[in-house]
Amino acid sequence: MIRKAKNKDAEFIHNLICIFSETGKVLFRSLDEINKNISSFWVYEKDDQVVGTYSLKKGWGRLVELRSLAVNPRYSRQGIGTKMIKASIEEALSTECDELFVLTYVVPMFKTIGFSTVDKETLPQKVWNDCNACLHKENCNETAMIISLTFLRQTKLLETSPNVTTTAT
Ligand SMILES: CC(C)(COP(=O)(O)OP(=O)(O)OC[C@H]1O[C@@H](n2cnc3c(N)ncnc32)[C@H](O)[C@@H]1OP(=O)(O)O)[C@@H](O)C(=O)NCCC(=O)NCCS
Repeated sequence: MIRKAKNKDAEFIHNLICIFSETGKVLFRSLDEINKNISSFWVYEKDDQVVGTYSLKKGWGRLVELRSLAVNPRYSRQGIGTKMIKASIEEALSTECDELFVLTYVVPMFKTIGFSTVDKETLPQKVWNDCNACLHKENCNETAMIISLTFLRQTKLLETSPNVTTTAT
């Protein structure tokens, strides 16, 4: 089950992020930072435990960022990461943003879901301020990927519109 994080989840989220921030796969987030921004986090609960997390960061203009995506290694390759990415897209669709972006090493996974690779230079410069906290800041080989929320909204609208006929003329 995916649900919004609560304050009691902060420590679990922190522990999950720490597993991967040590190798630079996700950015380190302090417990204090997580507590302060708990409303931007979601968790995946299984067997009464928090086994996955992600957060959405707004504040990049028309862009929203998927970050801190992590799944407990004991639960990996069970589709949890995919479910959380899809849930993040649904959540991002309810914002006024045009695009959801991610900086990632797991390009094929995001590609399968519908993200496309973009040149990192196209992201706003302020995105890189966060990179100061990253282990790989001098040698970043993460890939920037984007999914168009505008396109998804239009597609959904077409699918649900009773007036749209898909018959070729
Ligand atoms: C990446 C991560 C979120 C994937 O979570 P998950 O629950 O294992 O993912 P899923 O089970 O939904 O995987 C679906 C598919 O994505 C691909 N995939 C998943 N993890 C992958 C990895 N580490 N490397 C390459 N491909 C991967 C596979 O094709 C997988 O399908 P398969 O199991 O049939 O081969 C998880 O491994 C993780 O927390 N990694 C460390 C932190 C990280 O890199 N976060 C992403 C930052 S954007």
